[in-house]
Amino acid sequence: MRRPIFQTEIPGPNAIRIIAEQERQLSPSCTRDFPLVAASGEGCWITDVDGNQFLDFSAGIAVCTTGHSHPHVVQAIIDQSRQLIHMSGTDFYYEPQGNLAKKLCEYVPMRGGSRVFFTNSGTETIEGAIKLARYSTGRPHLIAFDGAFHGRSLGALSLTNSKVVQRRGFGPLLPEVSHIPYPGRDGITVDDTFRELEKLFKRRIDPKQVAGIFVEPIQGEGGYLISPPGFLSRLRQVCDQHGILLVADEVQSGMGRTGKFTAIQHWNVEPDIVCLAKGIASGLPLGALVARQELMQWPPGSHGSTFGGNPVACAAALATIELLENGLLDHAARMGRVVLDALHEAMRSNSAFSGARGIGLMAAVDLPDLPARNQLLQDCFRKGLILLGAGERSIRICPPLVVNEDEIHLAVEIMLEAVNSAGKKPAQAA
Ligand SMILES: Cc1ncc(COP(=O)(O)O)c(C=O)c1O
Repeated sequence: MRRPIFQTEIPGPNAIRIIAEQERQLSPSCTRDFPLVAASGEGCWITDVDGNQFLDFSAGIAVCTTGHSHPHVVQAIIDQSRQLIHMSGTDFYYEPQGNLAKKLCEYVPMRGGSRVFFTNSGTETIEGAIKLARYSTGRPHLIAFDGAFHGRSLGALSLTNSKVVQRRGFGPLLPEVSHIPYPGRDGITVDDTFRELEKLFKRRIDPKQVAGIFVEPIQGEGGYLISPPGFLSRLRQVCDQHGILLVADEVQSGMGRTGKFTAIQHWNVEPDIVCLAKGIASGLPLGALVARQELMQWPPGSHGSTFGGNPVACAAALATIELLENGLLDHAARMGRVVLDALHEAMRSNSAFSGARGIGLMAAVDLPDLPARNQLLQDCFRKGLILLGAGERSIRICPPLVVNEDEIHLAVEIMLEAVNSAGKKPAQAA
């Protein structure tokens, strides 16, 4: 079985040199917590610039759906690049954009049919959804949830309610935004959430002024919190009652990560708008706004994007969908069960782990607190396992969907080794 390989200390000499150079040139606004300088990738494995090999359970923040540089995706990118790299879908037509739109309408079915607008990222997709919700309802107000992450452009950031550092210094943000508690966080029940919404409607905002409610069916950055039973269907009912649009942010949870094309399909709830990005093109920048046909009636010139729906990105997305159709979707569901079993087993053998949860390959486990979680992330990295945190004390398990059982067991073994050795570290000199 393949295991992490170390040719040097971590970070190695090449990584140290490159990081020192880049620290001088790159914006310091990004959180580069790990000294990883990736040189190449294959499946779930990353090789760094010193030849060290890491098992990647981050998938480039839940992006590399089909694994790093899947040959089928690479071939599609090469073929499309030879034919046409760019022509701007805002002004012209080309086939890959239409072919992908057709596929997305098939996989994100909506009553009355759906239409697609292409973007380049998650935040742009959310931005488009905000504009479409306001335009199509003629209402100004937007509702999102505590702990939500919807992106960092100013409209999306107004919905984001995750960490103060993401908002501090960037105001004023959109004024017409309210946040309500997400059920499952801090003991909040579904009833509590709807009580808060009722209160909001009674005291502050006429529901007839609300354009859309934005919800992550599984709150990602907020801690991989799974919508409790009854929550999304009740949200749908409230939206229907007041003519509010239900917008599902599936930027992280979509594109097969949960074993279904979109996560909200697990609850049999049909949103009015679905936002996709991240995993859609296995690593190429692409996003898509899928909306009910009846809603997407904005006139020419009202919204556009020079790069959105780029032909090469669309070709990569079509290849990604082909792989999902050819077994990857089912594989993700199956591997998700292996992950959960392994996490539950880890919980039995070490009390530092608790709260294992997940649907498909969008899973998480909790550590006692933020310092313990962050220490474990660093210790795992030094042992050759790349993981990301979520929320205040969770570790997210979001490997490429091509992950196999051995890789899952290896990842959990490394996590256990890391947590066990953390307890045995000699006391550090003050
Ligand atoms: C649920 C969700 N929405 C939106 C975004 C923003 O996506 P991007 O970073 O591509 O702008 C993210 C990114 O993490 C996300 O997880």
